[in-house]
Amino acid sequence: MSPLRPPSPPHPSGRRIKNPHQLIAESGADLEGHGLKRTMGLFQLVCFGVGAVVGTGIFVGLSDSVAEAGPAVVLSFVLAAITCIFTAFSFAELGSAIPVSGSSYSFAYATLGERVAFLVGWCLLLEYGVSVSAVAVGWSQYVNELLDSLFGAQLPAALSAGPGDGGVINLPAVLVVMMAATLLARGVRESAGATAAMAVLKITILVLFCVIAFTAFEHGNLTPFFAQGAGGVTAGASLAFFSYIGFDAITTAGEEVRNPRRNIPIAIMVCIGLVTLLYCAVALAAIGALGPKAVADRPAALSIVVDQVTDSTVGGGIIAFGAVVAIASVVLAVMYGQTRILMSMSRDGLIPRIFERVSPRTSTPVANTWIVAVVFAVPAAFSSLDVVVNLTTIGALATMVAVNLAVIVLRRRNPEVKGSFRVPLYPLSPLLGVAFCLYLMYGTGWATWVQFAVFLGVGSAVYAFYGRSRSRLAGAGAAR
Ligand code: ALA
Repeated sequence: MSPLRPPSPPHPSGRRIKNPHQLIAESGADLEGHGLKRTMGLFQLVCFGVGAVVGTGIFVGLSDSVAEAGPAVVLSFVLAAITCIFTAFSFAELGSAIPVSGSSYSFAYATLGERVAFLVGWCLLLEYGVSVSAVAVGWSQYVNELLDSLFGAQLPAALSAGPGDGGVINLPAVLVVMMAATLLARGVRESAGATAAMAVLKITILVLFCVIAFTAFEHGNLTPFFAQGAGGVTAGASLAFFSYIGFDAITTAGEEVRNPRRNIPIAIMVCIGLVTLLYCAVALAAIGALGPKAVADRPAALSIVVDQVTDSTVGGGIIAFGAVVAIASVVLAVMYGQTRILMSMSRDGLIPRIFERVSPRTSTPVANTWIVAVVFAVPAAFSSLDVVVNLTTIGALATMVAVNLAVIVLRRRNPEVKGSFRVPLYPLSPLLGVAFCLYLMYGTGWATWVQFAVFLGVGSAVYAFYGRSRSRLAGAGAAR
């Protein structure tokens, strides 16, 4: 463990870089942090990670990945997982060395400087905030599947899809965002408990899917394995990456975790290993049962597979129910992460102070939670799934590039700041993490790049005209 020290003098480079010791001290890493309670243990933390990760990506997005890669989609999942694992090593090292809320934003502030940290926080609005919207839109699709199984009727398209998907407003997507905010505002103990229960349920549903689908497995459906060639595998990996987004949410809970230096790295590793096994098994089971074309053609493919294998709508209804629960828990976990990141940025003076206020009654940032819910309910109501998924993916990958670089900078600049976890094969692992992230970013396509560039431009302007002058780090004279 790093001993706590008084604030360091201005950084010699003149850049605004937070002293990691100061960051740990401010968060009260060994104490109660800023009114938040340390309630989460390892099991809850793994469930929290699974809750953040398994959702729209596997239940809805699997079809798009299979369309790109064919049966070789399992390799796409492995490629996306490798990208995550290198980055997860970096998250784990940083999370164990600097166990504070704020995730990649806080890590960047202690290594790459305030401007980069602000932009990382800005990109996290894509990875978390826009992700809330994306996942909510996916949830809405499965609500309709469930209604279809139960009552043989769906909500009208006008009320269950945005204009880009042939509707007017997506009301179920707005509803799930508001439900998640209500739970989160009531307190982390309750919402973490609910997340744990939902994570166990969603794993059970996916395992059940595999058991049913493998009974109809035919080897012939897996050939030709490389139906779209190696290019298809990499395109599939960029899409499959969405189904892994959220594993780093574990590091946003630094101030509410018991023994964070031990539990955070272990939870990240267990979470990625578990979901990779699940995703590959689900993809093999689905394609083995129906063939790649049938899976690619149906967005709610898992329900369809089970309906056809069991020759009844009951099984598909159970899977749709599982998807509704699974995806709702992603909304909950990802929204939680977004509120904690905004809290960190607010404490630093880079965004308005309302985001850091913790309610004494519930020990949660109530105003922050409701602002997030209202803002990201808007794209949930009116956006099409493709747009928000791609923006989420490119934003997440950009922050992960920064996290991998942050490990290298921290080891060089503050070798005395050590946690319980060190990345293996340093510096190869973080460098490969950067390379894999850039490769998958490239695969998101030029339209997403243009939107991302505009988004970054707006973020730079917000920092220049608001954050830079109100920064508490600058105000304290820690750096000029
Ligand atoms: N990984 C999350 C999902 O698939 C974002 O829903």
